[in-house]
Amino acid sequence: MSTALAEQIAQLAATVRYHQYRYFVLDDPLLSDPEFDVLFAQLNALEEAYPELRSPNSPTQRVGGQIAERFAKTPHPTPMLGLANAFSPGELVAWRERLHRLLSTEQRSQLRYVVEPKFDGLTVVLHYTQGSFVLGATRGDGEYGETITANLRTLRTLPLQIPADPAATTPPARLVARGEVYVDKADFEAFNQQQRAAGERTYANPRNFAAGSLRQLDSHISAARPLKLWVYQALVADPPLATQNDALRYLHTLGFPVCPAVHSFPDDGFDQLLDYVMAFGRSCQQLPYEVDGLVVKVDSLAMQAELGFTGKDPRWAIAYKYAGTEATTRLLDIVVNVGRTGAVTPNAVLEPVSVGGVVVRNATLHNADYIHALDIRIGDQVLVKRAGEVIPKVLRPLPDQRTGQETPWSMPLTCPVCGATLSRPAGEAATYCVNNACPAQLVRAVDYFVGRTAMEIAGFGFKQAELFVEQGFIHDLADIYQLPWSQIRTLPGYGDKRVDKLQTAIEASKSQPVHRLLAALGIRFVGAVVAETLAQHFPNLFDLMDAEPEQLSAIEGIGPKIAATLHDYFAVAANRALIEKLARLGVQVAAAPPAPTAPTHSLAGLTFVVTGTLPTFSREETHAFIKAHGGKVTGNVSSKSSYVVAGESAGSKLDKALQLGIPLLDEPALRALAARADPSPPTVQTT
Ligand code: IVH
Repeated sequence: MSTALAEQIAQLAATVRYHQYRYFVLDDPLLSDPEFDVLFAQLNALEEAYPELRSPNSPTQRVGGQIAERFAKTPHPTPMLGLANAFSPGELVAWRERLHRLLSTEQRSQLRYVVEPKFDGLTVVLHYTQGSFVLGATRGDGEYGETITANLRTLRTLPLQIPADPAATTPPARLVARGEVYVDKADFEAFNQQQRAAGERTYANPRNFAAGSLRQLDSHISAARPLKLWVYQALVADPPLATQNDALRYLHTLGFPVCPAVHSFPDDGFDQLLDYVMAFGRSCQQLPYEVDGLVVKVDSLAMQAELGFTGKDPRWAIAYKYAGTEATTRLLDIVVNVGRTGAVTPNAVLEPVSVGGVVVRNATLHNADYIHALDIRIGDQVLVKRAGEVIPKVLRPLPDQRTGQETPWSMPLTCPVCGATLSRPAGEAATYCVNNACPAQLVRAVDYFVGRTAMEIAGFGFKQAELFVEQGFIHDLADIYQLPWSQIRTLPGYGDKRVDKLQTAIEASKSQPVHRLLAALGIRFVGAVVAETLAQHFPNLFDLMDAEPEQLSAIEGIGPKIAATLHDYFAVAANRALIEKLARLGVQVAAAPPAPTAPTHSLAGLTFVVTGTLPTFSREETHAFIKAHGGKVTGNVSSKSSYVVAGESAGSKLDKALQLGIPLLDEPALRALAARADPSPPTVQTT
């Protein structure tokens, strides 16, 4: 075998490895994708031709290997211990005072701290010999971990060979590093959604996802999961290192993904450290991955060794948890609520507990899968989290505090309000009450129907919806148009003046444009924009009612999901009867003949998505303006969108636009675009 060939393959493997590192770890590629693909294909072809020259750590070998029977056990070089927690700045100060007592005056003068995020994933221990990744393990029982080398090899940011950049430094004889495997929040959500659609299992949280994805006997499964890695500790390094800061720098130089959100403070800067800890608590939800607080560490590794451990926790480090936001309490019961769309959601009834100064009695449990995946039982002690202004949620049960009296919960088979059978559509996490006349749903449906984005009936809101349903005046949405006014006039607070006004507003709403009526029906996925698109193609609701899904999905902006939902909606006799009844009661169900074509076509052929608040145009005015100039408006950003018109507080649509590189417009730019005479697209700067 020619050594020149072996050398050539090794060289090529090193080059490919280096470019993968630039791409995945540094996020700073030197090659274009096609250029990289050529290199990779060359390496693959050579290895195929000469399999005996293929290194097990070749970058082509990340795809998953043989299926294991079980996980072998690996001893850890040092016990993998946990961390003590602090929940208030006072506890951090107490921790520092203890360090001061344990350290000499000389050491105290050199004392520094490193503050790192506490990553919420699965701890892994990575072994390298002469620069090669030879073994990877979980934390296991702290002494022995489970060997998951094959699964870890599939992580694209885990270097199989160090240093990743051969020019950076020489390979160490031995290195054992500790890190955390995690998943980005967005990837986690997308994964669960995809699983749901396929009727497959979902994970309750990113941490379970990371653990479940790595503890797979078939590494092909791990390979297909969007796992990421942060490395934060050198357990064994040769030559030894002096500080945690040095360790992070060294690990970074070797090509490991090291989190940049690390800060260092001298002992006399402890006040700044506390400020940073508080500030991080306010902003950490914006990180793309979950964190479980911060870890404050003594920087000097010599001091760390001297400080040692108490029981199972190191004295030299402490985890800061945002105490205000979490508490444990008893789960007294699980009740279900019925929403406007009929979605039935389980909610926790809790023994009242103060979470960050607010008494919490209820918390969301999301859906049945969540409860089952976490094995939450009635009577359990549970961990509750309150973040910002959002509804508190139950994070998990504390099973070791069980008495045996806890009872598992299952979703009721019938709606707690109307008694109709509940159903769970394939591929969805939610369970629905499909009875449109369900009073709980009806109140919300009426409230939505009369609301601002729908029929816009002034003086009619949730209170009236609740009252009229409760009084038995409203059994379906059309009953809004045949309210028993003489009876209403006898209700407390419903004097003549108020009732006259309400009656006039209801009467006026009968001639709302048809797209408003369509949106007001509250059909899933059919919001204002989709309703407008549909009404353009089907100005008569009776025609829409009979449209085939293929006809609907042929319309730009209407996907197969919307088409199927509409078709299902109109397949229900009660829904068809509702439209007929609305029409009978004088509500306009067909648009007036189309207005003469728009005077200008400057936006013809262009598709816009509008998001956020514009300085002078309302949302509806913006849509009307675009259409008046021949443009199209859709609800979702896709590669087909020509422009995204973004105003203040634009959210995920703006993110998506940036991701896809869709040009952005503000209101003046939109006006300028519409005002131009020549309809060829102008050059607009992408921000
Ligand atoms: S240092 C001797 N730093 O949190 C303990 N741990 O509750 C040294 N963790 O499973 C651990 N992020 O793996 C350290 N930046 C970080 C961390 C971190 C997450 C994990 C750790 C352990 C758990 C302890």
